[in-house]
Amino acid sequence: MRHFRQQIGDRVASILDLTSTDLADSMTDPPSQDLGDLSLPCFQLAKQLKKSPPEIATQLAQASWDLPWLQSVDTAGPYLNFKVNRSEFARLAVERVLQAGEGWGRGESGQGQTVIVEYSSPNIAKQLAVHHLRSTMLGQAMANLLRWAGHTVISWNHLGDWGTGFGKLLAAWEKYRSTDDLDSPPLEKREDPVSDLNALYVRFNQSCQEEEGLDSIAREWFRKLEAGDPLAVSRWKRIRAVSLHKFDSIYQRLGVSFDKTIGESHYEQGMEAVIAQLQDKGLLVESDGAEVVHVTDQMPPMLIRKQDGATLYGTRDLASAMERHKLYPFDRCLYVVDAGQGLHFKQVFGVLKLLGHEWASHLEHAEFGVMRLKVDGAWKKGKTRGGQVVLLEEVLNQAVQLATRKVQEKNPDLDSQQVEQISEAVGVGAVIFSDMKAARRKDVNFELEKILAFDGETGPYLQYTHVRFCSILRKAASQGLAAGDGRLLEEAEELVLLKRILRFPEVVARAARDAEPSHLSQYLLELASEFNTYYAQHRVLGDDASLSSDRLVLVDALKKTLGRGLQLLCIDPLERM
Ligand code: ARG
Repeated sequence: MRHFRQQIGDRVASILDLTSTDLADSMTDPPSQDLGDLSLPCFQLAKQLKKSPPEIATQLAQASWDLPWLQSVDTAGPYLNFKVNRSEFARLAVERVLQAGEGWGRGESGQGQTVIVEYSSPNIAKQLAVHHLRSTMLGQAMANLLRWAGHTVISWNHLGDWGTGFGKLLAAWEKYRSTDDLDSPPLEKREDPVSDLNALYVRFNQSCQEEEGLDSIAREWFRKLEAGDPLAVSRWKRIRAVSLHKFDSIYQRLGVSFDKTIGESHYEQGMEAVIAQLQDKGLLVESDGAEVVHVTDQMPPMLIRKQDGATLYGTRDLASAMERHKLYPFDRCLYVVDAGQGLHFKQVFGVLKLLGHEWASHLEHAEFGVMRLKVDGAWKKGKTRGGQVVLLEEVLNQAVQLATRKVQEKNPDLDSQQVEQISEAVGVGAVIFSDMKAARRKDVNFELEKILAFDGETGPYLQYTHVRFCSILRKAASQGLAAGDGRLLEEAEELVLLKRILRFPEVVARAARDAEPSHLSQYLLELASEFNTYYAQHRVLGDDASLSSDRLVLVDALKKTLGRGLQLLCIDPLERM
C-alpha cells in the first residue's frame, strides 16, 4: 500500500509546492468504507504551512489529482478522504503482486544494514526442552523477516558448551565406568546419547549430596579440561558432537539453520584480554576475593571472575560481543533470550559501554515471555508433575500424531506417504505458530489440542486456507481458465482483500524492525479471515468467465502472500491436506 500512499504524498507535495513530504506513513483507513478508502490527516501540513487543517484539506480537495486509480477526493474537517477507482486500483494491485512473483513482499528497508540474530543457544549434554522452542523459532523468524526486508543477516547459535558443569559430567563419566560405561557401547553408537549423558549428570548431582569430595573431583576434571588434558578434551569433544548432532535433527524438522555455531568454549582463550581491558580502564574492582564491575547504581555489579579464578557466562558474553563486532561490524545485534536474563544483558551491554564501545548501543535483548504447560489442570513453567522437563521432540511427535488423525479424517483419499508428509507439516507447523501468535513478551500457554484445531487462530487454519487457494487454482487450471487482469474486482470485500495484500511488504518491514514476528502472524490471521468472509459471499469460479478469471488472480495473489508469510514463520504452506 505504501507505493500508493507515496503517490498521494508526492501529489500533495507538488500541489502545495513543497520539496517533499513524509506523509505516506501518516495515512490511515477512514473509520468506515463509506467515508473513503484512504485518509490523510492534515495536521502536520497545517503546522508546516501555518494554516488550519480544514483549510489545507479544502485546498487539496479542490486541486486536480490526475491519479488514474483515484475516484474522488473529499474533505471531512481536518481530513482528506480518498475513494479509489476500484477497477483501476484492482488492476494495478494485482499487477504489483504478480510482477513481484516469488519475491513478493521483499523490501529494501534493510539495505546496507548488517544484523546478527543470536537465538536458540542451548546447553550441550542436555535435550532440547519445549521451552527452547521460543528462542529457536522467534529467532529464526526474526532472521527470515530481516532478510526479507533487505538486511544482511548472520544467524548465530551461542552454544552453552563451557562451564564447571562439564567438570561434573566428566567426573561422572569416570566414576560410573564400571556400571554404565559411556564407551561401551560408545556414545556415538547409542540410540539417545544425550539422554544417557543427562541421566549420568543427574545421578552424579544426587551423589554429590551424599558423598563428600565429589565436588572437588568435578572441579579437578574441569581444571583438566581447561588445561587441555587429552582425555578430558576428547570426551568433552565427543559430548559436544553428539549433542550437536541431536540438535541438528530437531533444527531440521523446524526449518532452523545457523550461519555460525560458536560455543562459549571458544572464548576461553580471550578471557585474559577482556580482563586486561577492564583493568586498563580501571573498571575491575575486587569484592570478597572476586572481581566485579560496577555498571550503574541501578543494578548489582557484574561478576567477572570468581574467587577461584574461574571466569563466567557473562565474561564470555563480553568476549563474544567484541568478537561479533570485529567479524561483522553490525548495525544491530539481537539476543533472542528469555526475559528472565534481562539483568544479565543490562550488565553485559552496560560494561561494553563503559569500555567505550559506541556499538554497545546496537545490542538489543529481544526478550520473550515464558511458555507454560498444563499439568494437573494448572499452568506450569515447562515442567511435568515430577519436575522433569518436557522434551521438545516429544511435543513435536505428539503434535504430529494428533495431526495424523485429523488429516486422515479430513481427507481419506490421501495415500500413507502423503498423510505422513502432511501430518508432519501440520503438527510441527501448529506448534511453531502457537509460539509466534502473540507478542513475544507475553507468556504463552501451550495446549496441544487447541493449537491443532483447524478453525480458530491456529497454524492448521492458515495452512488450510492456503490449501483452499491451491485447490481453487488447480480447479481453474483444469477448466483451462486463463488469468485476468483484475479490472473486474469491484466488490467492497475485494477492495478490502487487495488493500490487505498490498500491506504485506510493510508488515514484513515492521516485523523486522520491531523484531516482532507476531506482526506477521496477526496479519496472516486477518488475511485468512477476510478471505473466508469473502468466500462465504462470492463464488470465485462461477458462470461469468471474465469475472472468474479476475477472481482467480485475486486468489493467486492471496496464495503468494499467505504462502510467503507462512514460510517466513517456518511453516510449510501446504498445497493439499
Ligand atoms: N545457553 C544459555 C542458556 O541456556 C543461553 C545463552 C543466551 N545467549 C547469550 N549470549 N548469553 O540459558
